[in-house]
Amino acid sequence: MRGTMHEIGKEFYLIRSEEEDFHRNIYLKKFVGADGHSVNMLMDPGTALDMPDLMKLTSDKIGGLANVHMVFLSHQDPDLTANIGNIMKLSAKAYLITSVDTWRLVKMYGLPPKRTKTVESFDSHILRMKKSGHKIAFIPARYCHFRGAMMVYDYESRILFTGDFMAGVNTRQGEGIYATEESWEGIKLFHEIYMPSTKAVVKTIERIASLNPFPEIIAPQHGDIIKGDLVVEFLDRLSKIKVGIDLVEEINPEKDLVLLAINNFFDLMETTFPELKQSFISKFQKGNEFTSPFLFHDGKVTAVKISPDNALLQVYNLIGELEDSEQRKHLKAIFMDTLDQLQINFKLQDEEVESVEANPNDSFNLDDFIE
Ligand SMILES: [Fe+2]
Ligand SMILES: [Fe+2]
Repeated sequence: MRGTMHEIGKEFYLIRSEEEDFHRNIYLKKFVGADGHSVNMLMDPGTALDMPDLMKLTSDKIGGLANVHMVFLSHQDPDLTANIGNIMKLSAKAYLITSVDTWRLVKMYGLPPKRTKTVESFDSHILRMKKSGHKIAFIPARYCHFRGAMMVYDYESRILFTGDFMAGVNTRQGEGIYATEESWEGIKLFHEIYMPSTKAVVKTIERIASLNPFPEIIAPQHGDIIKGDLVVEFLDRLSKIKVGIDLVEEINPEKDLVLLAINNFFDLMETTFPELKQSFISKFQKGNEFTSPFLFHDGKVTAVKISPDNALLQVYNLIGELEDSEQRKHLKAIFMDTLDQLQINFKLQDEEVESVEANPNDSFNLDDFIE
């Protein structure tokens, strides 16, 4: 095995892939009936990299992939669906279970529609297993981070598989699979970046909170397994942070974001026009502490002493002073793109529109190239 294998609840198995900073979690649950027969469900089966581990786990626990009966996909991202085509071939009796929204996309892998059941087709999103008497519930995690994202609640083990929700990059030191206080930073970071809206996160938390009985373990697709008091603690903290578009709006147009944009722009300048970058920095450093709009340290802007809008204008104007019109155009495009990437709304009062003048010396003539 490349990753590690663990039993995190009754007949609920985890493969944790080997990456240290950001790994995948794949789960297998065996619903064992009174007669000893089991219904076996794989959750978010990963990528081609995970096939050896999946083969090993399934052969140890259920006699191979051929004995998988259900494959659940929380959403359509390649980190959990890249090998679904192979899995559906090797698990020839398995049904794929996923939301309508996810199915609309994953069917592009050429999956068999006849072996697919959408979560929405189950009464109240609950699947009852006739023979063994088990039941599982599918809980929407709307827009967390995909419109049709779904979680699965296993009532027997009281484990809630949450997909990307409650997932994290690894900020905990050391071995093991269970979350500690150190895991929070990575969970927070992941949600700030990946979850589009605070409201969507809060709604999903409300859905989890209304589960009866309340889950004992949260099993996400990345990061540590959350159990004990940390389940409520982390859900509570998550309900209070800003994520995605709300986070960007909160810090925009504050100075930190502008600072980041200006430094990003200088970094990009460094690769294309290193001498120009130096001349920009010296120009900004000219004058005394009061007249220079920025503070520099080691070639980086460390503080902006004027309003964020004005700071951006200063940089833009300096680009406008360049004599070479090609350089001017190129750098303005890089600058605007840098702002755009950080969703900074920079409005120019009298927008200078550079006219694109064809240079007769380097104009392209098709006749030169064809006979
Ligand atoms: Fe995802
Ligand atoms: Fe993911």
